[in-house]
Amino acid sequence: MSPSVPPSATLEPGRARQADGTLAPETEAHPHFTVRRVQFAWDEVPVGWLPDDPVAAQVMNVLHVLLPPGEKWFVEVYREVLPLIEDPLLRREMKAFMGQESVHGRTHAGFVEHLDARGYDTAPLAWRLERTVEIATRWGRRTIGVRRTQGMLVATIAGIEHYTAVLGEWALVSPVFDRSDPTMADILRWHGAEELEHKCVAFDVMNEVTGGSYLWRLAGYMMASFQMARLWPICTDHLIDRDPALQHLTPKQRRREIWRSFRRRNLPGRELALPLLQYFRPQFHPSDHETLALARTFLVTSPAVRAIPATTSAASPSATENEPTSEQVAS
Ligand SMILES: [Fe+2]
Ligand SMILES: [Fe+2]
Repeated sequence: MSPSVPPSATLEPGRARQADGTLAPETEAHPHFTVRRVQFAWDEVPVGWLPDDPVAAQVMNVLHVLLPPGEKWFVEVYREVLPLIEDPLLRREMKAFMGQESVHGRTHAGFVEHLDARGYDTAPLAWRLERTVEIATRWGRRTIGVRRTQGMLVATIAGIEHYTAVLGEWALVSPVFDRSDPTMADILRWHGAEELEHKCVAFDVMNEVTGGSYLWRLAGYMMASFQMARLWPICTDHLIDRDPALQHLTPKQRRREIWRSFRRRNLPGRELALPLLQYFRPQFHPSDHETLALARTFLVTSPAVRAIPATTSAASPSATENEPTSEQVAS
């Protein structure tokens, strides 16, 4: 556990209360995290927001396109499995997780509107993800039953959350965002930092729902990896096809440019291999790797977090139907 976690400006005092009413100390496995309703203005942000590597920017823009439907789906699944969770601390963490993911999805949707206004027509990409989830869920319920399907879904979400935690840490330490548009750097690092704050929740939920099954963990990770590997190239091609500065590139030239972006470390590559492989360790838990101090160090300096008006703290009313109410988050 990290003893060096700086105090959080957004610590939610009602959380992690012990039986005697005192606050449980914050730990890597159980941080006190809350919902930050950040806002970004996209008008001045170029679609190719990494000036020296617009191809890498388009590869990362896939995140913006897939996150709104993906994170909305996380919240829907968690609403369904919440009654299965008995541990009161994990229930509270799930609700805060749902709140953070709702805000993430809504915030990235702002950039997606920005893309669509410039002719990127991203709706078919979101539809692909929604359709994949719908088919997998329907297939699961028919063939393995509702309960096992819930296990499959939460294991897949836990697998995706391992990716988002690893990518979040990369976003916080990579110098690539020091050269990018500052608004884009802020949203990706803010999101990455919150992914690190709640990185244990999906893993713990999976263990509760599946009884700690290692096989379900592996199956979920495989499912998450396969779907990301399938969808990412489709989405990247779709965006590059509509980018006036890049659409002339042939498929071979695109692959070469993307490979070059990896080699220049503008895209995350080899450095992710070891953290991603850690998930296969039978005794793995996300809290094994300490990242809370890194996340908090960024969050206290993030321009978007610092700009949040006091009236839109975690105690303010829910902003979307997917976002838990303030009572849910705090209960
Ligand atoms: Fe997220
Ligand atoms: Fe997340």
